[in-house]
Amino acid sequence: MSGFWYGGDYNPEQWPAEVWREDVQLMNRAGVNLASVGIFSWARIEPREGEFDFDWLDEVLDLLHAGGVSVDLATATASPPPWLALKHPEMLPVTAEGVTLWSGSRQAYCPSSPVYRRYAARLVTAIVERYADHPALVLWHVNNEYGCHVSHCYCDASAAAFRSWLEEKYGTIERLNEAWGTAFWSQHYAGFDEILPPRSAPTFKNPTQVLDFDRFSSDELLACFRAEAEIIRSRSSIPITTNFMGFFKAADYWAWAQEVDIVSDDSYPDPADPLSPAYAAMQRDLMRSLGGGKPWLLMEQSPGAVNWRERNAAKLPGQMRAWSYQCVARGADGILFFQWRQAVAGAEKFHAGMVPHGGTDTRIFREVEQLGAELRAPSGTDALLGQPVTAQVGIVFDWDSWWAIEQPASPTKVQYVHEVFSWYLGAAAAGVTVDFVQATGDLTPYRTVIVPSLFVASDEQLAALDAYAAGGGALVVGHLTGILDKDLHARTGGYLGALRETLGVRVEEFAPPAAPDLAAVGAGRAPALHVRGDVVGGDGTASEWGEYVVVDSAEVEATFVGGALDGHPAVTRHARGSGEAWYVATRLDQVPLTAFLDRVLTAAGVDRLPQVPGVEFVRRGDVLVAINHSDETVVLDQQGTDLLTGEPTAGRLEAQGVALIAEG
Ligand code: GAL
Repeated sequence: MSGFWYGGDYNPEQWPAEVWREDVQLMNRAGVNLASVGIFSWARIEPREGEFDFDWLDEVLDLLHAGGVSVDLATATASPPPWLALKHPEMLPVTAEGVTLWSGSRQAYCPSSPVYRRYAARLVTAIVERYADHPALVLWHVNNEYGCHVSHCYCDASAAAFRSWLEEKYGTIERLNEAWGTAFWSQHYAGFDEILPPRSAPTFKNPTQVLDFDRFSSDELLACFRAEAEIIRSRSSIPITTNFMGFFKAADYWAWAQEVDIVSDDSYPDPADPLSPAYAAMQRDLMRSLGGGKPWLLMEQSPGAVNWRERNAAKLPGQMRAWSYQCVARGADGILFFQWRQAVAGAEKFHAGMVPHGGTDTRIFREVEQLGAELRAPSGTDALLGQPVTAQVGIVFDWDSWWAIEQPASPTKVQYVHEVFSWYLGAAAAGVTVDFVQATGDLTPYRTVIVPSLFVASDEQLAALDAYAAGGGALVVGHLTGILDKDLHARTGGYLGALRETLGVRVEEFAPPAAPDLAAVGAGRAPALHVRGDVVGGDGTASEWGEYVVVDSAEVEATFVGGALDGHPAVTRHARGSGEAWYVATRLDQVPLTAFLDRVLTAAGVDRLPQVPGVEFVRRGDVLVAINHSDETVVLDQQGTDLLTGEPTAGRLEAQGVALIAEG
């Protein structure tokens, strides 16, 4: 590829053919070089069973090609046509409550349905045969946002597939009974044929059954992807993607990322939420990490407001551009939108498009044109293209822990991604870029590895973390780590498993502070915890979590102050091999957390980025990118050339402004 990809979802079937010609002209004007075509076209391509109509799509692809626009061609399997559901209602998805989800919207299929998979395979085969050699084609787009609306299906076909999956995993029913702990509440199974998906039940469901169903459901969606990818690969060597959805709970993207040729992501931060830039940055870092550092594509973002929040905030002037550069700075080699032309009919007519209802004489189109021009400029942004983003800090992210920690009947209510985000914010405030990692992945590039609430941990994961510390790393372990094994059985003897040795502590009892609603009722019971120690910058506050930690051989670096935990360890440090291992027994608030990370990162020799309030800094290749997310002009003292202007850096950056600084 010679430059950044730029474009969006293109749904020509919603428009008469005259508009297609204007579309191509406008795409040229906007600098668009890639269109994602056919994502929801099944009913148009196969209007009746087995009757394929490709004439219109031939014309669209030829027009795009003639206009110099490449194509990311979809397999069109994301929204089965009504005739299929009428003929085979058994392919429709069913909720845990037994409610069937019908046609008339989208994604109305059960991922395990053999019928759906058979019809999807036939459609994909027809599309691939027709277009594998089309000169416009540069990327295959399998399905769309797998699991977005239907990630878990509880129908009878799913039940059968779940049983096979379990049999494959456990081999014998005895092994399953042991893993699921079915001696509890009379849940014992005599054979695999007795097992059902975790459908609606009177109270708490079997936790291991639920976790296995989460694992199974991610695998089933991935099997759908794999089936389509195999058909494509048998006939075409063009790269394949499917669009991820950032921190999406239902799909274990570590496994998925192994199967795609290029990671692509859909991202819709809320312009009204002041934390959006930081959360979005975290999402970009996940995408880069999933691909092992390779460039990724922003497959979808909105050029303006979306249509699916209670209140759909417009993007501020310049915000779409600023957030696009955030992607580029964090490893993206393409910026695409949902969608090209704003729809006039259907459920997404109030969702912004690159060509909005107001036409081209609009702020949105002008901003689209400006960004397109910048990304296509012969010099400037190309210094970033294909370049790596180097991180010296890794944060462990783990889908099993996410699934399990959010189950009911847990020590406290936790939102896993919020735990991760609080560490991410701390690292950002301390001026470092992070990668996301798996505990069993390669941790050697990192001077510090942070482990937020790795609630479910295998012996291998714990051993890998220990080896990291022993080998000279600075390991930071957060609360609620190593509580359960992979079958969700408690790790006895002080939790943490083998990390007890690593950390030199054990956990005797959980003691989370009162939840805010209880605190409001109970007079004077403040939910905040207080912590004290130089390592957290003196006195600080913490929230959400407390516990009784027993020190075996660690140093206590901060203690809880006041309340029942008064004097008990809150932060400990332990020398391990040539490294060190920290344990944090609470969720530190931002100020003490940043102070703590500052201490750890300094000792570990981690390089820092400049820090200016409201400004995001990140380095890609040799370029320092500065993005001003605040609503005021800020002063910058970084010297160099701004690649966007070709001039020396201005020393100031306006609200939503971006500088690509070649230093020196
Ligand atoms: C995505 C989806 C698109 C469109 C968009 C609207 O989830 O892939 O087709 O619906 O959201 O924000």
